[in-house]
Amino acid sequence: MIDKIKEHIAEVEKFTTQAKEDIENFRIKYLGKKGLLNEFFAEFRNVPNEQKKEFGQTINKLKEAAQEKVNALKEALENKAEEKGVYGDLTRPAQPMEIGARHPISLVKNQITDIFSRIGFNVSEGPEIEDDWHNFTALNLPEYHPARDMQDTFFIQTNPDILLRTHTSSVQVRYMENNKPPIRTISPGRVYRNEAISARSHCFFHQIEGLYIDKEVSFADLKQTLQHFTKEMFGKSKIRLRPSYFPFTEPSAEIDVYWGLATETDHKITKGTGWLEIGGCGMVDPNVLTNCGIDPTEYSGFAFGVGIDRIAMLLHQIGDIRLLSENDVRFLEQFKSAL
Ligand code: DAH
Repeated sequence: MIDKIKEHIAEVEKFTTQAKEDIENFRIKYLGKKGLLNEFFAEFRNVPNEQKKEFGQTINKLKEAAQEKVNALKEALENKAEEKGVYGDLTRPAQPMEIGARHPISLVKNQITDIFSRIGFNVSEGPEIEDDWHNFTALNLPEYHPARDMQDTFFIQTNPDILLRTHTSSVQVRYMENNKPPIRTISPGRVYRNEAISARSHCFFHQIEGLYIDKEVSFADLKQTLQHFTKEMFGKSKIRLRPSYFPFTEPSAEIDVYWGLATETDHKITKGTGWLEIGGCGMVDPNVLTNCGIDPTEYSGFAFGVGIDRIAMLLHQIGDIRLLSENDVRFLEQFKSAL
């Protein structure tokens, strides 16, 4: 009998497996309720007294060996699982990564600033809360000038000198006051006007201002620059500069892009004309240069202002300007794949 137990000990010591069920079967075989160990313990009564000691010691040895083996195999299995956890299953598809989306206003703003950066314009910014000088007076709009009515202004409290800027043209003034020509800068930003909110207009929106000041800058330079811009931005280089009036430029023009009439949408957005207005421009009025400390006999320049919201609505087919400020995630998520 003792020899039989010793054989089992040898067998236990040799046993190895990596399968969970095999370990469990092994455990049941030796350590289970109806396992071999209990069988041997039951034999204990029938063993002659002089053999009892050795018999007992041998069974205990078998028990220890079986228990140790089960523990060792289980641990090895766990370690292996852990190791697997570090590297994972290399064939498993990756976890999808949630990426955010840029706001359509930022997308368009970045596109425009990129286009102008490539032709040597830097980016400048100014405050949204402005004073009368930078928003109006320096731009050739003195007090009581009728053109001030063109822009319904939000004033801060009752101080008529402090207001929310009505256009990014105020940044032109700040830039010229602080920098000597040659100047090539574009200034994106938010502007405010006291207007009724509808699908087409809002009390705040975004503009991008361009300013170029150097010796002998001509209207032809303005036209070429705008043409380059519309080509890069929309893939369309046919533009029209329609005579207009702005107090800070002379001559002034409205910028129209020829959008075409290829599709029904083209008809709709251009009201059947094929032409689309994107902003205003002109040669900087000598008075403005003087107001900003630049000698108009030495320097000349052009300026332009373009509406970002309108372009974003056009390019992304957004039918209601209010969507741009509601921050509805369902709307914003749609721009994930954009640049
Ligand atoms: N500031 C004008 C507006 O908000 C747009 C504009 C027109 C800007 C002509 C300019 C410009 O720089 O030259 O309606």
